[in-house]
Amino acid sequence: MTATAPALVKLPVDHDIIPRDLHFNFSDASPRAWYGGDSFKTNFFNALFTLFPPGEDFFVRSVLYYRGQIKDEKLQRDITNFSCQEGIHSRCHADHLDILEKQGYTSLKRENKYIDAGLRYLNKRMPKFSLALTVALEHFTAMLSHQLFIYPELFLDPAHEDFRPLMAWHALEELEHKAVAFDVYQQVDGSHARLVLAIMLATISLTGFTVVRMVPLLFKDKILFKWKTWKEGLPFLYGKHGIFTISWRQYLRFYDPDFHPWHIQDYKLGEKVRDMYSQGILLTHARDLS
Ligand SMILES: [Fe+2]
Ligand SMILES: [Fe+2]
Repeated sequence: MTATAPALVKLPVDHDIIPRDLHFNFSDASPRAWYGGDSFKTNFFNALFTLFPPGEDFFVRSVLYYRGQIKDEKLQRDITNFSCQEGIHSRCHADHLDILEKQGYTSLKRENKYIDAGLRYLNKRMPKFSLALTVALEHFTAMLSHQLFIYPELFLDPAHEDFRPLMAWHALEELEHKAVAFDVYQQVDGSHARLVLAIMLATISLTGFTVVRMVPLLFKDKILFKWKTWKEGLPFLYGKHGIFTISWRQYLRFYDPDFHPWHIQDYKLGEKVRDMYSQGILLTHARDLS
């Protein structure tokens, strides 16, 4: 650990990271415009969600690379559960990707091959920066998960019931494990400057590349060149209540040198989803999620 690295922020004992091995109900029979019947918004989530298989595999590799240097037993257990959760997320979103491929959105799998190759190269050549980038992207996933629970009417309710449990389950687990990569980073490096560089790159990649990735999808749906598409779609991403902008205060906290993910105590936000999973009704009572 470097001299400047802050001490581990311990989770309260009732905070668990629980891998939940699920298979969801979405299929070829699910509506094509599954998010509010809106092709732009659906394709945004299609573009984002299908980044998860290569992205989350990258997160796991980045963290596991440093596992041998971790002495803390609790953090070792957290790494195991984090890796299991991300592995299952990756598989579930890959299932969704298969459906999109069959529906003719062939650009996504093609792009993922290059993304996966690039991320593997980054893991190999720049393991510390890979871990910092993982920490930064985990801040984004935690922020998106937080706002999904805080503003369900904006971000969860419009999803079709085949997809709503997927979103809620993934959000729950992102909150549960949001500090794992951060804690590993503190133990092995802790450079704040590298984290700042990583969050800047993560911001550009996520808020820019996801939209670029939507272009072939919108073209396929024949709405790419329609003014209405962008006039109504862009505010959903970047407007006052946009998915990338609504939690700007939370985003900025990452730049604070003393920041730790559990300074934002949002573990309990996922309580309803956690309960529904425990009762075995998460997939069948999607309407009760918000
Ligand atoms: Fe995940
Ligand atoms: Fe994650």
